[in-house]
Order: sequence, then structure tokens, then C-alpha cells
Amino acid sequence: MQQRTLGSTGLAVGAIGLGCMGMSFAYSPAKRDDEESIRVIGAAIDKGVTLIDTADVYGPFTNEKLVGRALRARRDEVVLASKCGLVVRDGAIVPSGRPDHIRAAAEHSLQRLGTEVIDLYQLHRVDPDVPVEDSWGAMAELVTAGMVRHIGMSEATVDQLAAAHAVHPVATVQSELSLWSRDQLDKVVPWCREHNAAFIAYSPLGRGYLTGALTKADQLEADDWRRGNPRFQAETIARNQRILAAIDDVARARSATKAQVALAWVLALSEDIVPIPGTRRLIHLEENLAAADLRLTDADLRALDPIADHVVGDRY
Ligand SMILES: NC(=O)c1ccc[n+]([C@@H]2O[C@H](COP(=O)([O-])OP(=O)(O)OC[C@H]3O[C@@H](n4cnc5c(N)ncnc54)[C@H](OP(=O)(O)O)[C@@H]3O)[C@@H](O)[C@H]2O)c1
Repeated sequence: MQQRTLGSTGLAVGAIGLGCMGMSFAYSPAKRDDEESIRVIGAAIDKGVTLIDTADVYGPFTNEKLVGRALRARRDEVVLASKCGLVVRDGAIVPSGRPDHIRAAAEHSLQRLGTEVIDLYQLHRVDPDVPVEDSWGAMAELVTAGMVRHIGMSEATVDQLAAAHAVHPVATVQSELSLWSRDQLDKVVPWCREHNAAFIAYSPLGRGYLTGALTKADQLEADDWRRGNPRFQAETIARNQRILAAIDDVARARSATKAQVALAWVLALSEDIVPIPGTRRLIHLEENLAAADLRLTDADLRALDPIADHVVGDRY
């Protein structure tokens, strides 16, 4: 697979990474299949994926354990990324950015992942009750302590990024970016370019919607987080079908799938953006990774441009 450089880390990674969240969390967790997920992670590495993304809150905790198992004999082949700063409290996912929490979370993540060092540790959310400089200072101390190699932020504003960067370089920013979620292109992606931070594009398949596989709300299991998401309500699923029609036109013209077009669009944005699609299935993994070889033409990109104006529903 072609390589991309992960910002100021200087680390080369496969142009498409693997997001592991859905293997244990959010998308029908009761139906997870750990053994198959471990096979998916192994197959991804075989095919040139090197950026593997997880977080302590996924599960919570079970996803890091799963990733740790999958990497037991292959730790040196990947750039291992995890996150702290979100916790489950009274059934809700809430920020927790106190320095003592961050330090303890990193120690626990290292244990669950079965590794001595995490290559990229990301602050999952900025805690509104803790100055970002304090949370980020604690993240920087983890670098000094040798527990993590580089630190990144997730879903941060440019003001938060600037405040953090003044304390310690922000190596990466991870936020949602896809054909139907483009708001990060306005300020955050330019900030990244200016400060030599890589942008890690999460949910590049629109949490599955952009693949065309989800056409009705009742396809989602009762425990699927998307049931509460504005874009996965019966009405929005139906109204956003016109987006899929536009993607399908390009896919047919290029003998590709809608998932591949969605990923190729993210890849075409810039060399400093790395998408991390998630899947539990080998067949989807193969399909997704083939997108690394799909070059969209200017005409394809123009055809996909108006999609952004037709999205119904907020991304959260
Ligand atoms: N920083 C953050 O706050 C944050 C938030 C969300 C996600 N993330 C990260 O980003 C990663 C990816 O995001 P995501 O999992 O939310 O969304 P995504 O990659 O946009 O979509 C994943 C969904 O698409 C389905 N899918 C994947 N490939 C497919 C294909 N070729 N055809 C049909 N369906 C396909 C998957 O189902 P199958 O399993 O059936 O393939 C899954 O339901 C996560 O794993 C996580 O690491 C980070």
C-alpha cells in the first residue's frame, strides 16, 4: 500500500488505517465476534495497514484488550494509536481530562494493550471543566516518561489546538471527515497543515451509511449507538438516499463500490490525511483497502462536491 507520513511524528503509515471501535463498541456490540475481528486486524496488517486505532472507552476497555491480543506477535509491525479522556459514567460517555486521570488511564492502556509504549496517544475529547493546557501537560508528561511516543487530539477546535500546541507539539488531529461530514475542512485541516500535524479521518464511511448498506433504521440492532444519531433516523436515512445516488454514479463509472469511492474521496483531499475505516468483516476489509488504488478524476470530484449541500441531519 502507498505510504503517508503521520505529521511531525515522521512515522510512515499505510495510506488507509484500521479503526477498531466497531469491533467491540457502538455498532451492535452484542453481536461482536472477537475471533473474526482478530483475523481482520491480522489480515489488515498483511495487506499493508499499519495505523491501528483504538481507545480505552471502546467497550469500555474490551477493545484495547482485543487489539492487544491481535498484536501479540505483531506489535512491531504497526503504529499503535489509542486514546484517553472519555469515560462511561451513569451510562453516558463524558469527558475526563484531569491530569491524574490521564496518567492512570495511560498505565491501564499499556497493560491492556500488552505493550511498553503506545506510538500515538490521543486526547479523545477536551474536558470543558479542565484547562486544555493542564490535560495536554499531562499528555506531554507521558511522552517524557517514555510511556507514549507522540500525542494527538480528537475533535478539538483550532483554539484548543493552538493552546495545546504551545505546551507540546500536537502530532495528529483525529476528527470525523467524509463525503457527508466536511466541516473539519474549514479550519482544523488547514491548522493541521500549517502546524505539520497529520489529520486522521474517522468514520470515513459515514458510519456505514455511505456504503449503501443501511437503507432502513430497523436494520440497526436495539443496542446500536446509531439508533440515537440524527442521521440514522427513519426520515434522515430516507432523505439522504440522494447522496448515495450521486456516489453510486461515480462508483459505476469507475467500476468501484460506494465504499471505495467514499474512501478514495478522503484520500484525494490531501497527502496529510489518513482515513481509518472500521469493519468487523474480512470481505469489507478487502473492499476498503482496494480504495487505496482508486484515483478519482477531477470530474469525479466535481460530481461528488454537491453532496455536502444535501446532507440532512447533524453528525451528532
Ligand atoms: N475520535 C473519535 O471520537 C472517533 C469517533 C468515531 C470513530 N472513531 C474511529 O474511527 C474508526 C472508524 O469509524 P467508524 O467505525 O465509526 O465508521 P466508518 O469506518 O465510517 O464505518 C464503519 C461501519 O461501516 C461498515 N462497513 C465498513 N466497510 C464496509 C463495506 N465495505 N461495505 C459495507 N459496510 C461497511 C461497518 O460494518 P461491518 O463491520 O459490517 O463492515 C461499520 O458498521 C473507528 O473504528 C474509531 O477507531 C473515532
